[in-house]
Amino acid sequence: MNKKIKNILKKKNKKKLVCLTAYSGNTAKLLDNYCDIILVGDSLGNVLYGMKNTHSVSLEMMIRHAMSVKKSVKKSLFVVDMPKGTYKNVPSAIKNAKKIIKNTQCDAVKIESNKKNFNIIKGLVKSNIQVMGHIGFTPQFKEKFKIEGKDITSQNRLINEALEIQKAGSFSIVLECINSDTAKKITSKLYIPTIGIGSSINCDGQVLVTDDLLGMSGFYPKFVKKYALINKIIEKAIQRYSKDVKTKRFPKKKNSY
Ligand code: KIV
Repeated sequence: MNKKIKNILKKKNKKKLVCLTAYSGNTAKLLDNYCDIILVGDSLGNVLYGMKNTHSVSLEMMIRHAMSVKKSVKKSLFVVDMPKGTYKNVPSAIKNAKKIIKNTQCDAVKIESNKKNFNIIKGLVKSNIQVMGHIGFTPQFKEKFKIEGKDITSQNRLINEALEIQKAGSFSIVLECINSDTAKKITSKLYIPTIGIGSSINCDGQVLVTDDLLGMSGFYPKFVKKYALINKIIEKAIQRYSKDVKTKRFPKKKNSY
């Protein structure tokens, strides 16, 4: 287990963990000083490529973006999502995770739980590959958005799922869109940290899609707090550029050779 992962584990019950997504080196450079974990999420399928879900994101896409991110990650733990279909069985999961790690030097991979792929995590960890789990609303396996853990049956199922993932050797778990009380119970039962997205304050850390919190993606469900309206700033700058070109105010002599 590398030093960065040991540090993440040490923060459980002491300090909140800060996690954000990055799909490019430029973004990662801005995040690195403020994050414990930088995730190259397969949400890039929706956010960057305009896909209707993450199901067609390929290993090559993830590797390309992660290679760009890697150049700017100095201090944060660097995690890369394994896309749908790349961890169907233990041998393929190991082969594909090794390909991601070899090309990107990431510290860990993240895989979504389908409630029965615990043996995949076990196989990866046995091969010295660090794994972050992901439960609740898992976009690779679900079509329809739904808050999970609202009733006792669903709560118990999620607690067991989280415990199985911990037992399989994951060092952390993302809890996506899980009811606040259930998130609290899961977090208190685990010795590994939980990272929430839409799962309340009752998690050991928080993750958001960076483009959402910057107001760039157009995806603003209740669990996203918009910390900026970057799209407005970009639009204003583009308007000014367009006007300058049309009115011949750009380029000036100082912009020319
Ligand atoms: O793909 C992603 O960005 C994620 C986070 C939202 C946790 O899985």
